[in-house]
Amino acid sequence: MRSFNNKVAAITGAASGMGRQLAVQLARHGCHLALSDVNESGLAETQVLARQANRAIRISVRTLDVSDRKAVFDWADATAREHGKVNLIFNNAGVGLASTAEATWHWGQKGTTSARSTRISRNSATARGAVTLASPS
Ligand SMILES: NC(=O)c1ccc[n+]([C@@H]2O[C@H](COP(=O)([O-])OP(=O)(O)OC[C@H]3O[C@@H](n4cnc5c(N)ncnc54)[C@H](O)[C@@H]3O)[C@@H](O)[C@H]2O)c1
Repeated sequence: MRSFNNKVAAITGAASGMGRQLAVQLARHGCHLALSDVNESGLAETQVLARQANRAIRISVRTLDVSDRKAVFDWADATAREHGKVNLIFNNAGVGLASTAEATWHWGQKGTTSARSTRISRNSATARGAVTLASPS
């Protein structure tokens, strides 16, 4: 991918830390954003920061827990609908040792493409990158 301009990135765990920084940096490069996190207020702050970084991009936000399979799939559907495509998926929200087996699988432990990102890819038909930042330990 030569440029992030006019691409669409979906980021989980976007309310703080690396997810927030990723959102702001991508916004500076003209990338549209679909942001999610379980932390509603932190997510709203990230939305403000990304908006300050770039007034021209489209930003959607969704409060969800990534261990909630239906909520994630609903978000994937909504993201594909609202943005028309998804080019990059960042599986960033943390998963600890206490997570369930199903949640762990969804975090891409069998590779970088999780069930969630596959779903987004299928809906958008344009996603090329799925990046898993989560460390399970
Ligand atoms: N910071 C590091 O040095 C480092 C190194 C290797 C891997 N990682 C991984 O990168 C990811 C981000 O790290 P960070 O330091 O930015 O962490 P962070 O704690 O600052 O941010 C994680 C975000 O994920 C959200 N989150 C947690 N559980 C969630 C859930 N069930 N559903 C939705 N959102 C949830 C939190 O609200 C938070 O906003 C983590 O998965 C971490 O394991 C971080």
